[in-house]
Amino acid sequence: MSQPFTPRPLVIAPSILASDFSKLGEEVRAVDQAGADWIHLDVMDGHFVPNISYGPDVIKAMRPHTKKIFDAHLMISPCDPYLEAFAKAGCDHITVHAEAGPHLHRSLQAIRALGKKAGVSINPATPVSAIEHVLDLIDLVLVMSVNPGFGGQAFIRGSLGKVSDVRAMTAGRPIDVEVDGGVAPDVSGELAAAGANAFVAGSAVFKGGTMEAYKANISAIRNAAALARGEAI
Ligand code: DX5
Ligand code: ZN
Repeated sequence: MSQPFTPRPLVIAPSILASDFSKLGEEVRAVDQAGADWIHLDVMDGHFVPNISYGPDVIKAMRPHTKKIFDAHLMISPCDPYLEAFAKAGCDHITVHAEAGPHLHRSLQAIRALGKKAGVSINPATPVSAIEHVLDLIDLVLVMSVNPGFGGQAFIRGSLGKVSDVRAMTAGRPIDVEVDGGVAPDVSGELAAAGANAFVAGSAVFKGGTMEAYKANISAIRNAAALARGEAI
C-alpha cells in the first residue's frame, strides 16, 4: 500500500543543468513561464561528484530573470565555506549532502542562520537514517534517484521505497520530500503515491527546446503526480 497522501504542495522544479547554458537567462524565463514552481540549481565541484557545473556568480546572474524559488542543490565538499556566497547569490533553499562531510548538523545550522530553508540530500547508497537526528533543522529532504553528477541517467527504482521511508520519518513536520534524477511522467505518479511532493526534472523538462515544449513537459509530470495524489488536473 502507498503512504497516506500528504498535504505538502505539489512542486515541479526544472533542473537548469539540462538547459542551454549559452542563454541561461532566457532558459530561466522560459521555464518560469512554462509553469515551474521552483528552479533547481545543481552545483558540482568535480570532487564530491565527478563533474563541474557552476557556482554562486552564475546563480547571481540568473536571479533577476525570475521571482520563483531558487532551490540550490550543493554537490560540493566541503560546503560550509560557500554557504554564505550561495545565500547572497539569491538561493532560497540550500540543500547539502549528508555524505559531504562529518558536520551535517553544523552545516544545517549555518544555512538556517543565513535565513534560508535548509535541505539534506541522500545518495542512492545512503540509508534514510542519515536524516534521523537533523529533523528539527530541515525544511526539505532531497532523495537522489540517480548517482549525482550528471543529468539524463536512468531512474533507480529502489528510490521509491526510500521516498516512502522519508515521508514516514518526516510525517507531521513541515518538510518537503523532493526527488531528483531520472524523473519523468512515467514515474512521477508512483513517486507521488510513495510520498514525494517535489519533483526535480532536467532532461524530461528541457527536451524540445522551446517554452511550449517545456510547458507540455512540466504539465505531463505534474498531471501524473496530481492524479496519484487524487487532485484535480
Ligand atoms: C544530478 C542532478 C539532477 C539532474 C537531474 O546530479 O542533481 O538535478 O540534473 O537530471 P535528469 O532529470 O535529467 O535526471
Ligand atoms: Zn539536483
